[in-house]
Amino acid sequence: MPNSKRHRTLQVAASELLGTVSAEEARLLAALDLQRLPRHIAIIMDGNGRWAQRRHLPRVAGHRAGVQSARTAIETCARLKLEALTLYAFSVENWRRPKSEIDFLMQLLREYLRRELPLIHKNNIRFRVLGRIDELPASVQREVREAVEVTSRNTGMILALALNYGGRAEIVDAVNSILAEQRAAHAPEQVQESQLARHLYTAGMPEPDLLIRTSGEMRVSNFLLWQIAYAEIYFTETLWPDFSRPCLIEALLEFQKRERRYGALRESEQPSPAAPVGASAR
Ligand code: FPP
Repeated sequence: MPNSKRHRTLQVAASELLGTVSAEEARLLAALDLQRLPRHIAIIMDGNGRWAQRRHLPRVAGHRAGVQSARTAIETCARLKLEALTLYAFSVENWRRPKSEIDFLMQLLREYLRRELPLIHKNNIRFRVLGRIDELPASVQREVREAVEVTSRNTGMILALALNYGGRAEIVDAVNSILAEQRAAHAPEQVQESQLARHLYTAGMPEPDLLIRTSGEMRVSNFLLWQIAYAEIYFTETLWPDFSRPCLIEALLEFQKRERRYGALRESEQPSPAAPVGASAR
């Protein structure tokens, strides 16, 4: 198929996948290459509190508004047929927040799961949780385990919620799990990278190709430390409750502009067969 025709076909496909689109979305989608989407997007949803403060609302109103952005991101990624979306919903550090805010977040999570599970299931999404689940309130654990169980045989996008999650804690848990396995087998061995990856909470998921953080903060904040080794990182000033579908498409377009080299040279820098190999690039 000639290039322009192929592009037109994909463009139509993008709008079709997303259903009704606004004029702005149609303009953005026209530039999006559906063949080069990330397999896995991970998002640090930040800025709920500031969003609420700017409106003279309590912080929790920002979290409630943040749930709507999460819903939009989940639906969009599922429709674009990504393999995985991971949302950082509650970190191991978030226990330092006031008890009233923690209780609200846990309640919001329970509500979200109870209300959205039928739709998640209907859309063939597999629900997973990343984190020390045993330390969450019993009622949250029940909802989470049910959502994992009900959707376990689905074959579509994996939706992973990072809950009571810490990247360092995850690596420590993986190492301890390997040690336990080795002790049981009476076979102490040196640990390989691939073995460690198999013991992370994300075992079996592709590594994120794109990490998004909203609200202008430029940190990784202990999120998926092992898995983002080669991820493209996209920071935006937009606060999470304002992170709409066009914002997500813009992040995808920025991702498609990046050249991913995994430590190798740029195409234009590749030595010709006769030339000596030069210094490496990152
Ligand atoms: C950061 O905002 C956000 C969180 C602590 C995570 C909470 C996320 C949600 C409620 C949305 C998704 C929920 C579900 C159930 C999918 P912040 O409070 O740190 O904002 P700030 O930096 O402006 O104070």
